[in-house]
Amino acid sequence: MIDIKTKINDHFRDVQGGLFESISKADVGEVVSNFALQGGEIMAWADPFYPDPSLPRSVKDTLMKAIEDGYVAHYTPPIGMPKLRETIARVVSKRTGIPINPNRNVIVTPGSDSGLIYSMMPFISAGDEVLVPSPSYPSNFLNPRLLGGKAVPVPLSFEDNYQPNIEEFKKRLSDRTKMVLITHPNNPTTTVFRRKNLEILCEFIVKNDLILVSDQAFEDHIFDGIEFVSPCTLPGMWERTLTVCSISKGIGLSGLRIGYIISDDQIMDTLYGAAVNVLGASCTLSSLAAITALEDDSHLARNFEKLEARRRVAHRIFNSIPGVRTAISESGILSWLDVSALGTSEEVADRIKRDAKILVNPGSQYGAQGEGFIRIVTACFTEESDALLRFERISAVLEQMAAERGIS
Ligand SMILES: Cc1ncc(COP(=O)(O)O)c(C=O)c1O
Repeated sequence: MIDIKTKINDHFRDVQGGLFESISKADVGEVVSNFALQGGEIMAWADPFYPDPSLPRSVKDTLMKAIEDGYVAHYTPPIGMPKLRETIARVVSKRTGIPINPNRNVIVTPGSDSGLIYSMMPFISAGDEVLVPSPSYPSNFLNPRLLGGKAVPVPLSFEDNYQPNIEEFKKRLSDRTKMVLITHPNNPTTTVFRRKNLEILCEFIVKNDLILVSDQAFEDHIFDGIEFVSPCTLPGMWERTLTVCSISKGIGLSGLRIGYIISDDQIMDTLYGAAVNVLGASCTLSSLAAITALEDDSHLARNFEKLEARRRVAHRIFNSIPGVRTAISESGILSWLDVSALGTSEEVADRIKRDAKILVNPGSQYGAQGEGFIRIVTACFTEESDALLRFERISAVLEQMAAERGIS
């Protein structure tokens, strides 16, 4: 029998979570589906209102009509349906104040996960280094490796409200550094990087002639009036930034698999040129639905109100558990809990899984700085009472763990 693994590229060979590895990472299919089949509940997928039906009426009408019309049997252009690109350009221009040309600055991707790695592909090759704040989205550590490069984690800390500290970036700069990759607002911490800190980071990027990939999947919901700054709007950044966005989180349409990248014409020229080879094309039916979803921003407003209230309830409950500390979420749909007084990330997540029958994410999956934390997707379920019930079940397990350790 051939050892096919020896033929697989070094940087793909030890990827985990395939057929022969049992890992608890929540977004690797089997673990989740088996747990759900056994009656477990998933609060580990950053998917608003999962598992309840939550398709907005206007989007449903568009989908039904598009199926009736029958055109959906056909491809969209690989760079994205023209009307969807126009809609995206309008939304992004309004948000950022930058005039976005739908035919030069926007590409539609099948979800932003593919957009993220595609943004990096033209820039990262063997040996290149990518500075990645830690904790952050797990893909940010794997993507550079899949391209033959290396993620260099830059620590963030709870005490600094997870804001980037430029000295930590400087320490890790090398002659192989090509890129800074941020998730902004950050997942798992929910932190919005503040203008001042972004300005300092962007000066560093310009000075060292780096590229920035800014994953803004969670940009739709920023709470407490915190200012959200798109780094591409800062001096010298437009021509060196790829901004990656999604309709999965704020608008809550992850099942449609639509994301997009915004960038300067020169970068976009390359992304357009290789689109058919790498992305194929996005789903025609989903593209039509995405136009409706983006044009009618009442979905965003409705979700915002609901999720803003939800994060307060989550904070009140989780922050009152002995031995647990958490800051109120600044954005999005998550709670990020320091449970280090109760055990390791894995131990605490396993115990919640066993005793509350709920899957949450061990913080260790988000980089070394995530150890001692867990991530809970607080936006699960449409009804407040359903969410509350689960918060209380998780809380009871954590209180029990605290009592076992004599923490009161
Ligand atoms: C920070 C972040 N970026 C990107 C994605 C990818 O989302 P999608 O591919 O659904 O757009 C996710 C999904 O969880 C995420 O958390």
